[in-house]
Amino acid sequence: MRAVVVRPPVPGVAVEEVPAPVLGPGAIRVAVRECGVCGTDHDVADGKYGRAPEGDAYLILGHENLGEVIEVAPEASGFRAGDLVVATVRRGCGICRFCLSGRSDFCETGRFTERGISGAHGYMADEYVEIPPYLVRVDSALTPVAVLLEPLSVVEKAIAQGQAVLDRKEPTPGHSRSAAPRALVAGTGAIGMLAAFALRARGYDVVAVDRHGEDTPAAVLLRRIGAQHTNVSEGLGAVRDSAFDLVIEATGSVALDLHLAEMLGPNGVLVLTGIPDPAATPISVAAGPLFREVVLGNRAIVGSVNANRADFESGLEDLARFESRWPGACASIISARRPLEEVASVLAEHVGGAMKTVLTVRRGSTQGRSGR
Ligand code: BGC
Repeated sequence: MRAVVVRPPVPGVAVEEVPAPVLGPGAIRVAVRECGVCGTDHDVADGKYGRAPEGDAYLILGHENLGEVIEVAPEASGFRAGDLVVATVRRGCGICRFCLSGRSDFCETGRFTERGISGAHGYMADEYVEIPPYLVRVDSALTPVAVLLEPLSVVEKAIAQGQAVLDRKEPTPGHSRSAAPRALVAGTGAIGMLAAFALRARGYDVVAVDRHGEDTPAAVLLRRIGAQHTNVSEGLGAVRDSAFDLVIEATGSVALDLHLAEMLGPNGVLVLTGIPDPAATPISVAAGPLFREVVLGNRAIVGSVNANRADFESGLEDLARFESRWPGACASIISARRPLEEVASVLAEHVGGAMKTVLTVRRGSTQGRSGR
């Protein structure tokens, strides 16, 4: 079968013929329809991150996925040929209490694998094989947006983490809040945009920031869902009100992360989702005032990575909610669909203002190739 192959830590990516996976007992064979390309894929293709499975010379890239069940082993249940599915990414260490209870996103040993990233083959290939606990069935009505479910699962977890910290304050019976909660989203790539959608759907007033003007597809889309867009290319001072309840960071920029902490209102929470480059230039920061405000204002800074099955399931509910509230809007987070063979040029291009590029592997009946 065709597969997008990388050999970290050697940089480079190629479409190669590799053996199709064997259908083991209890497993499901899935024909991949689409794979999203994200920052992690760039890092793995650049040789900065990730590793091949034990004993293999290469890794099949890709973790944002949508596929169609084509074969079900006799012992497997719950799926049948034709079902649309999205596979989760992380496979637990099998040792710690979180992995043993289906929450490998909180793995304590670090001995997990992640399909398409570290130690397990991914989904940029004609086919993959998986067992049912790691497959999430998708309603065909969601076909145009279902490839966004994996990045949305990361957002679902991040918001849930932030909300759990916000909820530590407990309710104030008889004294309800007088205005909608306020969220700041940093970054308008797919993660930032999906966060803006999910927070609007939860009743937040949302300000999303990036370094672009008002005419990008992201800025237009933000207005459509009732979120405000602000260009912060001259600094975060452009965001006038800096008293946010929840800040979701989706850029991976360390310098920005520290300034985002200054945007928190009393009791506010900053959730970091972008993965910074460990080789990023060191910066100096006035830590005294920063951490003084964290303490005196009960503020919190939380990291959030990956997602578990519950986050994929809440993501499915959100995708349906987005469609009914803003028909067709979520699909326009996908800036372009390109054939699998073009993966190297997709990874080499940096299209300013693009939110998500998706590789088309096998064309389904309801998919089309969109323009760029
Ligand atoms: C993926 C996560 C993964 C993380 C770190 C992200 O791009 O969406 O599933 O845990 O990278 O490897």
